[in-house]
Amino acid sequence: MRPDVTLQPLDETSLRELLDAAVADADPLEVMPPVDGPAGWTAGRRQAFLDFHRARSLSGEPVETTYVIRVGEEAVGAARLCPIEDAGHAVEAGIWIGRSHRGSGVGGAVLRRLFELARAGGARRLFASTTAGNTPMRRLLAAAGAELARDGQEITAWADLAEAGF
Ligand SMILES: CC(C)(COP(=O)(O)OP(=O)(O)OC[C@H]1O[C@@H](n2cnc3c(N)ncnc32)[C@H](O)[C@@H]1OP(=O)(O)O)[C@@H](O)C(=O)NCCC(=O)NCCS
Repeated sequence: MRPDVTLQPLDETSLRELLDAAVADADPLEVMPPVDGPAGWTAGRRQAFLDFHRARSLSGEPVETTYVIRVGEEAVGAARLCPIEDAGHAVEAGIWIGRSHRGSGVGGAVLRRLFELARAGGARRLFASTTAGNTPMRRLLAAAGAELARDGQEITAWADLAEAGF
């Protein structure tokens, strides 16, 4: 596993770094919900990115925990854990990594760390969803011992954290 990959809980300072990393190295649709308007990182979409993370992770009543992914000192993406209501100690995990850092083991290191954080937070099961065409994410989830199910283009995965390979 890559020892240079760390997760840092998001705060206002690192949120700016995260936006810079997203603008430089990712498509808006890879990192945030769709926003109407012209394609690309418009001023409106940059503001929506900040608003999205502030509302979900930095407000007085956060609904999820977001982590800045760092390779060394550099912010290269984000990972999140979101408790799933009524699912009995389950969390949903999500990850995005900037294009220039994909395919070199960062995702594997991040998913391992998310499994550790989920366990430490008292979760028993971890859920993730992706698309059939997302080979790296599917490989990572399978390697972690998650049970994958396919419905059309959607892949859902559940991992038992007591038995997971990660
Ligand atoms: C999905 C994502 C998080 C994976 O992270 P990553 O750092 O690129 O993945 P890794 O380098 O750790 O590779 C994971 C596995 O996929 C394989 N892989 C990586 N890139 C691949 C590619 N383009 N095609 C096929 N396999 C690939 C690796 O060999 C590795 O498999 P192995 O462990 O069996 O050798 C990252 O690519 C990403 O952020 N993509 C855009 C956003 C996204 O799709 N997020 C997930 C939505 S749920």
